[in-house]
Amino acid sequence: MLLQRALVLSVILVGCNNEPGLPPLPVIPDYPSFEDLNPDPKIVEVNLRASATTVEFKPFYSTDVLAYNGALPGPLLEARIGDRIIVHFQNDLVEETTIHWHGLRITPAMDGDPHAQGPVPAGGAFTYDFTVPDAGTFWFHPHVGTIEQIDRGLYGAIIVTEAEPPAFTAERLYVIDDMRLLSNGQIAPYSYSGHDVMMGRIGNTLLTNGKTTPASGNAIGRGIERWRIINAATARVFELAVDGASWRVIATDGGLLPTPYQPERLLVAPGQRFELEVTYDQGVETARLVSYDLFATGTPPPLEMAIVHIADDVTPTPPVYPEVTLPALTDAAEDKQIRLGANSEGFTINGAIAEAVPTLEVSQGTPVRLTVTNEIGPYHPFHLHGQFFQILTRNGKPVEEPGLKDTVLLDAFETVTLLSYFENPGMWMYHCHIPEHAEMGMMAHLMVHPADHEPTH
Ligand code: C2O
Ligand code: CU
Repeated sequence: MLLQRALVLSVILVGCNNEPGLPPLPVIPDYPSFEDLNPDPKIVEVNLRASATTVEFKPFYSTDVLAYNGALPGPLLEARIGDRIIVHFQNDLVEETTIHWHGLRITPAMDGDPHAQGPVPAGGAFTYDFTVPDAGTFWFHPHVGTIEQIDRGLYGAIIVTEAEPPAFTAERLYVIDDMRLLSNGQIAPYSYSGHDVMMGRIGNTLLTNGKTTPASGNAIGRGIERWRIINAATARVFELAVDGASWRVIATDGGLLPTPYQPERLLVAPGQRFELEVTYDQGVETARLVSYDLFATGTPPPLEMAIVHIADDVTPTPPVYPEVTLPALTDAAEDKQIRLGANSEGFTINGAIAEAVPTLEVSQGTPVRLTVTNEIGPYHPFHLHGQFFQILTRNGKPVEEPGLKDTVLLDAFETVTLLSYFENPGMWMYHCHIPEHAEMGMMAHLMVHPADHEPTH
């Protein structure tokens, strides 16, 4: 009965998202989306407001958080590839902020880089206006005061659908995070020195879609689903698996893969996204998204991030994936080095702190090999704005980590080589995605000179 109601409801919801002649936007159960204020089917226009609010993570305790449109996570932003997105942003925080559209290859002026845009002051407003060139799972978060702003709850998910999206029995979205809560329910104070700065701030409470209890949903036996996963935590690396179903990775940061792959477990670093194809083919009643705690002592059983109750049976139609060709892994035309380190003043890139790091210069459309080295103990999720790259090697050995990425995890003293074509011109940030590291120096800029660039005399 319940299931039937859910099905009827989802049919109605699909109806709302339908534009004649355009593929439907996915319906994510129990996950609110923005209201699109623009009747033009190719324009998504929304209002977004950042403000302080309270949530109840545990019964009877309220927690002061920061949130987009009063909810943690913020509403889901959904668009089709090629759509124009207009976001009327109102900053009702008591401090300045910007919004970065993590993974979207838009223009530098709209990317939330405070150097390019100028921060939005407390009480101020800004209209973000851009076109989305790629399909995939992305997210948005502040790019000012990130140590607290992201951790306190300012983040939201973005789904951009393919021109011919594969059809699934259902789609789900799991935005995973951790928070450090005190016994009175409040967020523990932030440190600007010591262990949290060295290693990043690891929380004591896991969140799935803003809740401290596992996300729960209903599914149909033998169904084939698409699960999108976003790690919005500031420092926690999640090691995930799906129990009770077959699963494989179908997409990374930059969208669908040419060929899915099946890891035993999936490491998801802060900032990264993965999409899974999950098939209920094991005749069991529940399937779970589980997380192995890399920060626990001993080997405790995995924690549940999401649980799906399986009932009934369908005859699934296997999804038809569009053909995907990734940029060729040819010899690089140029080589660039990025060394992540620290000195007595803070975290460094190529030996210097943030603004003092010389800007790297590359040319649009030219394959460049980036050799990124982690010269210190803590791990770093390395993130490049405005571009995708592919991972070539780790410590000199070829890797099986296919797909387009904008974020890659570097273990202590590890070297990775990446290949990017730098297709998106302009001045872009690159940095460690642990805010303590980025804000304390591990953040710099890279200039992609446009291919049609005329030298000025
Ligand atoms: Cu998600 Cu510059 O960051
Ligand atoms: Cu770092």
